[in-house]
Amino acid sequence: MTRLDGKTVLVTGASRGIGRAIACELAAQGAKVALNYQSSDAKAQEVAAQIKQSGGSCILAKANVADPKEARAMVKRVTEELGRLDALVNNAGITRDRSIRKMTDEDWVEVIQTNLNAVFFCTSAAIPVMVDQNFGRIVNISSMNGQAPAFGQANYGASKGGIIAFTKTAALELARFNITVNAIAPGFTMTDMLSKVPDNIQQQILTKIPLNRFAKPEDIAKAATFLIADGDYITGQQINVNGGAYM
Ligand SMILES: NC(=O)c1ccc[n+]([C@@H]2O[C@H](COP(=O)([O-])OP(=O)(O)OC[C@H]3O[C@@H](n4cnc5c(N)ncnc54)[C@H](OP(=O)(O)O)[C@@H]3O)[C@@H](O)[C@H]2O)c1
Repeated sequence: MTRLDGKTVLVTGASRGIGRAIACELAAQGAKVALNYQSSDAKAQEVAAQIKQSGGSCILAKANVADPKEARAMVKRVTEELGRLDALVNNAGITRDRSIRKMTDEDWVEVIQTNLNAVFFCTSAAIPVMVDQNFGRIVNISSMNGQAPAFGQANYGASKGGIIAFTKTAALELARFNITVNAIAPGFTMTDMLSKVPDNIQQQILTKIPLNRFAKPEDIAKAATFLIADGDYITGQQINVNGGAYM
């Protein structure tokens, strides 16, 4: 018997990085996991194979969560396939870094659409299911850069700050249905997203992290698993998993 036996979870952006680690950890704890991703078929299949080889259970749920119709249809399909939806992890995210002076409308809109609007699309599709169950756990992956400014990330910071504000209102509105809504704000985490940052900037960032290392995706996965498995009386909160880089 593991902590999440019988539970079903949808993780968006589960083909790589933090989403992948969250999906693997939740599956290791006994949950049936739906792995959403946008385009990395081979990577998503690799995650599914890893979960199944370890005795876990999962399905693939390819969809662009930035598209409201696709996102909602995907949540519906996953719920039908898994039979219920106990938890939703809104993790999918992108960066289009540029100073505001150079940022295009496309850079702005694409990031807000993928990182923030998609959280609304998936959450609003999951709510009727969770209300019927009188149970739900929603975890939104924000960022330290939604709490503190980062040069070149006005779009990203706005999307991640928006997630924190959304999380609090959703928590307030949904508590009466035994649905908790929380955010995790990771610091710099070793994934494809961080690898896009030039090496010299990465070295500068490292000097500002008291624990003196970047997070591993598994560090974030532990917090998500805690909220889903043990966070029954925690709602409207943000857990900062950032090595002390923002206090
Ligand atoms: N890495 C960090 O330092 C860091 C720090 C704080 C917060 N975060 C946040 O943590 C989350 C995961 O970041 P990461 O570093 O793991 O990123 P990543 O390695 O770049 O992976 C991004 C994931 O999101 C998926 N995705 C992107 N756009 C999508 C869309 N429109 N529809 C469906 N899936 C989509 C990707 O799918 P495909 O593979 O199909 O493209 C991939 O699975 C993001 O929300 C990010 O903002 C990251």
